[in-house]
Amino acid sequence: MRYGHFDDRTREYVIERPDTPLPWINYLGTEEYFGLISNTAGGYSFYRDARLRRLTRYRYNNAPLDVGGRYLYLRDDATGDYWSPSWQPTRRDLDDYECRHGLSYTRIASARRGIRAETLYFVPLGETLEVWRATVTNERDTPAELSLFSAVEFCLWDAQDDATNFQRNFSTGQVEVDGGVIYHKTEYRERRDHFAYFACSQMPDGFDTQREAFLGAYRGWDRPAAVERGAASGSVAHGWSPIGSHHVRLSLGPGESREVIFVLGYAENPRGDKFDPPGSQTLNKRHVRPVVEHWLRPETVAKGFAALTAHWDRLLGALRVSTPDTDTDRMVNIWNAYQCLVTFNLSRSASSFESGIGRGMGFRDSNQDLLGFVHILPERARERILDIAATQMATGGAYHQYQPLTKRGNNDIGDGFNDDPLWLVLGVSAYLKETGDQTILDEPVPFDNEPGSEVSLYEHLRRSLQYTLDRLGPHGLPLIGRADWNDCLNLNCFSDTSGEPFQTTQNATGGQAESVFIAGQFVLAAKELAGIAALRGRPEEEAEYRAAAEKMTGTVTEHGWDGAWFRRAYDFYGYPIGSGENDEGQIFVEPQGMCVLAGVGREDGLAARALDSVAERLATPHGIVLQQPAYSSYRIELGEISTYPPGYKENAGIFCHTNPWIMIAEAIVGNGDRAFDYYRRINPSAREQLSEVHRCEPYVYAQMIAGRDAPTHGEAKNSWLTGAAAWNFVAVTQWILGLRPELSGLRVDPVLPAAWPGFTATRAYRGATYEITVRKPAGATGRVTRLLVDGERVEGTLVPPAPAGAVVRVEAVVEGA
Ligand code: BGC
Ligand code: NOJ
Repeated sequence: MRYGHFDDRTREYVIERPDTPLPWINYLGTEEYFGLISNTAGGYSFYRDARLRRLTRYRYNNAPLDVGGRYLYLRDDATGDYWSPSWQPTRRDLDDYECRHGLSYTRIASARRGIRAETLYFVPLGETLEVWRATVTNERDTPAELSLFSAVEFCLWDAQDDATNFQRNFSTGQVEVDGGVIYHKTEYRERRDHFAYFACSQMPDGFDTQREAFLGAYRGWDRPAAVERGAASGSVAHGWSPIGSHHVRLSLGPGESREVIFVLGYAENPRGDKFDPPGSQTLNKRHVRPVVEHWLRPETVAKGFAALTAHWDRLLGALRVSTPDTDTDRMVNIWNAYQCLVTFNLSRSASSFESGIGRGMGFRDSNQDLLGFVHILPERARERILDIAATQMATGGAYHQYQPLTKRGNNDIGDGFNDDPLWLVLGVSAYLKETGDQTILDEPVPFDNEPGSEVSLYEHLRRSLQYTLDRLGPHGLPLIGRADWNDCLNLNCFSDTSGEPFQTTQNATGGQAESVFIAGQFVLAAKELAGIAALRGRPEEEAEYRAAAEKMTGTVTEHGWDGAWFRRAYDFYGYPIGSGENDEGQIFVEPQGMCVLAGVGREDGLAARALDSVAERLATPHGIVLQQPAYSSYRIELGEISTYPPGYKENAGIFCHTNPWIMIAEAIVGNGDRAFDYYRRINPSAREQLSEVHRCEPYVYAQMIAGRDAPTHGEAKNSWLTGAAAWNFVAVTQWILGLRPELSGLRVDPVLPAAWPGFTATRAYRGATYEITVRKPAGATGRVTRLLVDGERVEGTLVPPAPAGAVVRVEAVVEGA
């Protein structure tokens, strides 16, 4: 069953009914000001940091779902009938409803009793504000006297404090209303550097800024007293809960439409502004007024929206494909690319499942995120790489996360995730392959942001590898530390000599447990760094890294192979994990993917054997589960993984992040049918018709789909902010379609499903444009045998970089069966 449909022409997902299984959200903003917006206008906004600069409130885990948003109310002043044109929060019946989530904008349209309203929400490029453009139309054949109310609830900036520190916060809230603009100025007394504003294009007939005055005692957002009676109260908030609400009266003749624009924004005072001397209590609004006036004009809004659309045309123009499969085209050309950018911007901070206060930017996560968008915005990838590297320590170790506002390492959840440093090598290598910009390797980058500690980025990469080599365990495999990619495989949790378990599985680091996954990742990273060293003309270093990769490959083959698949790890006591010797958790997906990706087992057949084991033991119709059999009980020696009920999250859930590793591995061994079949099982668009099972948005990947051991097998959770976005994009574009940037050019090496006759693509690469056609006889399963670049035969499958501005025609042919 579906709740909407894709409109590929407008690049929108059209939701046809408001009561989706979960709020289906979208994101506004692409630079510094961001918002989440659901199909019923729920969500919140923030400036750069979802925790520290939250503009509006949102209530997670509430009933009903999705409370707090960008609310409008319409009231028929003749009858007193009122409703929300976005359905929430009043949930009054609408005669017709449609939500269109587009690229960084959302449009919600509905009608009730002959009054139509359509609201467009977006954040203009280069601004720290959002626009709501409401168009109200009287479709009756009689005049209509209407009231339109807006409503947002302000957050007192630090969202964590806002949700907990009531003894203080009920007394700090402050607002100012001036010329119809509502200013939220809590914190202005002491900081005098930031505030929010909420303005309306029509001089309001009334306003409210105190929540309880607007709602009335013991009422919710579904029944505001001000809306019910058709008149705002003019309240000014002193403490308690500041809100912004305008009341606008509209008289519309039959067929008449009116556009009302609301602007909600964030402002920072110019530093050292003489109009805002220390001690001044007056809001410094001078620099904001012109911005507000500008964005309240319909022409500005129309132009701003057109600019946003053009911006996305440009971004998505970097890669366009046309294949025999609509779900592939739609994801690659629109939604997956879009999700990669959102994930890059927000890391794992703010979604329907991430509260915006828990996690900053992940070291591991951000490095992987850039794999999916470096071809679109290489400059931003460059900047991000340097930010991440500056949080690395001199040992090569990493803070697991950093705070976006300060860009400093954040030790809230500690370190000791021993895979972290290696991701930096993979991120930088992806950047170099895409851009060819070697200057990044010479950039001076500090350790732990300490001025004076700068070394070259290249040296950071060396230390990343050294970090692993300095931490090898009894089998010569890398120590896992607190955990590796699988946050929940905490193998150094053990009972101490008194027999008492550790109080928390989260604090146990050190110990002897080893990871075969990190071993595979090390092999991959060492080979990448070897390639980079060669590029820099450092043959000795190249040889050193190749030798290290080879040695680790030997160790994996000797101690990491279980007979039919790669083992996962060795625990604190030296027992294998992910082995036929275990009663549960006998086979894990991660080492099968990562080891094959790194080239381990390719020549001796282990890779193909491991992938067959995945197909036999881990693949389900909804995707590949993380391990089998699921852990049926809690085991302290395994840590958080076994805290989850079977089939959920790391305990045998389907991680959409690890599935693409297997797709890539299948492509590497030449199995295009299997690679593509796995791709379709988790492709959100291909799962659209299962929306009542899948439940999350059909246009983006979710982190996890419940595995076969779960009673809700097939149900997705944690949509939007997940490494699944980048890795699925890489798997399908670089390995199945085979358009793969390498250090010396663009590889064209597709591994397609047998039935396909080929595909076409346009790809921007290092400033040139490649028009690519791949042809193959339907039924053939081989690889490219003939490559023509601008009509000239080229040996192999590598297209050398063309001069910037060139348009290059590439024809790749797969011959034979
Ligand atoms: C989740 C992981 C997540 C981690 C983040 C765990 O509870 O299961 O998926 O990566 O928290 O801290
Ligand atoms: C989500 C985390 O953000 C990511 O870093 C981790 O690898 C996966 N969960 C698996 O535990």
